[in-house]
Amino acid sequence: MFSEESFGFRKFKCPHCSSELSGLVCPKCNKGWMVEGGIAKFVEQPAHWNLLAEEEMSGLISQAEKVGWAEAIKKSKSQKIRVLYPFTDCPTRADATFYLPLNEKSLILDLGSGWGNFSFALAPRVGQVVAADITSQALKFIHLRKTQDKIENITPVLIEPLDFGRLPFADNTFNAVIMNGVLEWVGSHLKTGDPLKLQEGCLRAVYQTLKNNGRVLIGIENRFGLKYFFGAQDDHLIHYSSQKISYTTLLPRIIANWITKKRISLPYRTYTHSLNGYKSLLKRAGFKDIEVYFPDPDYRAISAQVYPVKVQEVRKLLRASMKNELASLSRNMFWHWLFNNFILLIKLFKLEYFFCNSYLIIGVKR
Ligand SMILES: C[S@@+](CC[C@H](N)C(=O)[O-])C[C@H]1O[C@@H](n2cnc3c(N)ncnc32)[C@H](O)[C@@H]1O
Ligand SMILES: [Zn+2]
Repeated sequence: MFSEESFGFRKFKCPHCSSELSGLVCPKCNKGWMVEGGIAKFVEQPAHWNLLAEEEMSGLISQAEKVGWAEAIKKSKSQKIRVLYPFTDCPTRADATFYLPLNEKSLILDLGSGWGNFSFALAPRVGQVVAADITSQALKFIHLRKTQDKIENITPVLIEPLDFGRLPFADNTFNAVIMNGVLEWVGSHLKTGDPLKLQEGCLRAVYQTLKNNGRVLIGIENRFGLKYFFGAQDDHLIHYSSQKISYTTLLPRIIANWITKKRISLPYRTYTHSLNGYKSLLKRAGFKDIEVYFPDPDYRAISAQVYPVKVQEVRKLLRASMKNELASLSRNMFWHWLFNNFILLIKLFKLEYFFCNSYLIIGVKR
C-alpha cells in the first residue's frame, strides 16, 4: 500500500486505465503495481537513460551506501563521475523555479528528475516533491540521498517513457511540473511515430495532472540557437555517439534523419523547436499565458542568470555573443561575410531573442 511512511504522496492513478488508485492493485483493470525500496513503480518494461553506463551507476550506488552519496561522487576514481557533483548538488541550477508561484504547501512533479537536482533544490521550499523518472538507478540514488540527508518530502516514482503520453498521477494534482532537459527526449524511446506528436501527447498528460492555475516549467535548447549556426555539436546526439554531428537541429527533420541514419545508424528523434514552435506546442496541449525566459549562459549551467526573453538586456547579451561567434570565423572570408550579413539582419529587425541557445518556458493551466 502507499500508506508506507515514506509515501507522503499518494495521489496515483493507473497508467493503464486511468482509474484512481488507493492501493497497489487497480480496481478496474486489475493491474498490480509495486513499492520497492521506497520507490513506487508503475512500469511493465524497464527503460534506461543515464549519463553513466548501468555498471558504473551500480558501482556508484553501492559506494554511496557505504560512504554517503556526496562523498561517493566527489571521491570517485572516475573523473566522469566527479564532474557530475556540481550539477547534482546545485540549487542555483533550479533558479528558474523562482518565477513559479510556490509556497510551503505546493505539490511539485519533477518529471524526468534524473538524479534529482531540482527535487532537492525545491524540497525545502515546498510541501511535497514527486521525483519521477524512467531510470530506476536514478531513483535509487534519489532514495538513498533523501534517506541519508533525512529529507522526508520527496517521493521517487518509476514511470514508463513519456512517449506513451500516460502518467500515473491523479488529475488536477500538482501546482507545478518541472521538465528540465526532458521534453527533447520524448519521442526517442519509441522508434516510430512523429516525435512532435508524442511530445504533444506528453504535454497533454502534464496538463491533466496539473491543478487549475498550475504551471509547467520547461528547460530546453532552442532548435535555432546561435551556437548551432556556428557549428556547435547537436547536444542530444552526444548521448548516442562521440562523433561530432553539427547542423542537425537547423535542418529539415527529413535531412537530419538521413544524416543520423548515415552517421550513427539511428533515426533523428530528439526534437527541439524554435521559440514559436514551443509556444504553439504548449498552446496545442492546452496551456495559456506562455512566458519565455533566457538563461544566460544556458539552462543546463551550474549558475545561470534568468531574464524574461524580451527585455533589452537579453538583446545586448545576445549581440555580444554574436560578435564573439563572428570573430571565431575571422579566417574564413566567405563564412565571415555571410554571417556578418545574417547578424546585421537580426539586429536590424530586432530578432535576437529568437536565437537564444536555450529557453526556460512557463505555461499555465487555466
Ligand atoms: C538531461 S537529463 C535531465 C535530468 C534532470 N531533469 C536535471 O535537470 O538534472 C534527462 C532525463 O530525462 C529522462 N528521459 C530520457 N528519455 C525519456 C523519455 N523518453 N521519457 C521520459 N523521460 C526520459 C532521463 O531518464 C533523464 O533523467
Ligand atoms: Zn487500471
